Amino acid sequence: MAISAALILAAGKGTRMKSALVKVLHELAGRPMLGWPLAAAREAGAGQIVIVAGHQADQVQKRFRAVPGIKIALQEEQLGTGHAVSCSLDQLDGLSGAVLILCGDTPLLTAATLQRLAAEHAASGAAVTVLTARLERPFGYGRIVRDSEGRVRRIVEQKDASPDEQAIDEVNSGIYCMELEFLRAHIGRLGSENAQNEYYLTDLVGIAVAEHAGCSAVVADDPDEIMGVNDRVQLAHAARILRQRINLQLMLAGVTLVDPDQTYIDASVQVGSDTVIWPGCVLRGATSIGSGCTLENNVRVSDCVIADRVQLKAGSVLSEAQVAEDVSVGPMAHLRPGSVLQAQVKIGNFVETKKVVMGTGSKASHLTYLGDAEIGSDVNIGCGTITCNYDGRHKHKTVIGDGVFVGSDVQLVAPVTVGANALIAAGTTVTQDVPPDSLAIARTPQVNKTDWCLKKRDNG
Ligand code: UD1
Ligand code: CA
Repeated sequence: MAISAALILAAGKGTRMKSALVKVLHELAGRPMLGWPLAAAREAGAGQIVIVAGHQADQVQKRFRAVPGIKIALQEEQLGTGHAVSCSLDQLDGLSGAVLILCGDTPLLTAATLQRLAAEHAASGAAVTVLTARLERPFGYGRIVRDSEGRVRRIVEQKDASPDEQAIDEVNSGIYCMELEFLRAHIGRLGSENAQNEYYLTDLVGIAVAEHAGCSAVVADDPDEIMGVNDRVQLAHAARILRQRINLQLMLAGVTLVDPDQTYIDASVQVGSDTVIWPGCVLRGATSIGSGCTLENNVRVSDCVIADRVQLKAGSVLSEAQVAEDVSVGPMAHLRPGSVLQAQVKIGNFVETKKVVMGTGSKASHLTYLGDAEIGSDVNIGCGTITCNYDGRHKHKTVIGDGVFVGSDVQLVAPVTVGANALIAAGTTVTQDVPPDSLAIARTPQVNKTDWCLKKRDNG
């Protein structure tokens, strides 16, 4: 039951999305819609995948061209699903055997179902095997017409169906397994004499029956799997189901989700066991979270590597950061790209970091901006510290050695270096390098004018 390739039909525009973006590139749980059936086909064993693109083909190509084993076929004019397949066949030259045909807008399809489809296809020896489903409301779908012995005879589209046929509750999913030889031999026979004047791929079922080439069917266990997304309501519905699947896997693997219905984790994210995730968290992209971490409410993490036992407190936002063991971040902290926090670092509330390495045990507990800096270990950054890294044209670096104590309300005007174990007095604007073990202080000396306020009041 080896599958040689998969075709994914994705040339349609998706008018009901009412979007400037082609339907199959809308995102669900961190993947473009088309990426879901594509992953299922891959997992089911399809080595070569051909995407049939039409509307915004350049966008589709841009998004998928870097993925190995993917070719794009162009269907310039959308003349129907049969026409779409015929546009793609020369991309499969040299291949033979079974090919899966999928739609780019069915994100809930699973690899397990495709494997069942391929297994039935191989076992029956049919030229065409169709995935079907029984629906309470079959309106709009093609119907599976069977004979009195239950054998599939043909598929009739909603718009072409007689009232009797419209009463059939078994529908065509638009997902098939077909023999390439059969496809190549018969695709040219499809006509467009039907209610929509389209070349229907579904007519191949009737042709397979007439040619005694065999037609078989597999009924999907879960009708959700064949659900096509056509508008934003269905997009939200499908995305919710995908999130539920992701969350279920994580919970079974030992992650506590305090409220899985309010936890938004991309398919690409990894989370270690005994990590607790509170509601409102959003974990995206190439993110991995270690074991024994706590993510409080409304933490957003994208493309970060977070080690074990890290505390991410409420409302923190992290992107492209690396966080080592036992670090604490937030509440309401912002780690921007290039932030590297070594073990036991503490970042407190309203602290922003960007392109910063902070050594083991260093702390910036309150209201601070650290950008373009290299900070050693056991450094204390006082409240309100600012690295002044930008002169309006260029970015400059601040280097702070191990064991430095930076008092509150300090500005470090980069480029500047503070030597190890130095102390910067509160309120200092550091404009020159500070040698190790030294005190830097730059403040106007305080003057107290005794009774000045009283006199000011008396004079009027
Ligand atoms: C098709 C089936 C129908 C089935 C339904 C399941 C046919 C004739 N009918 O109907 O039996 O119940 O899917 O959802 O096949 N596409 C192209 N090029 C085209 C036309 C379509 O690439 O010229 C792509 C679309 O982008 C989409 C898929 O094919 O991904 C299905 O097209 P759609 O128009 O939604 O098919 P239906 O008319 O709904
Ligand atoms: Ca259509």
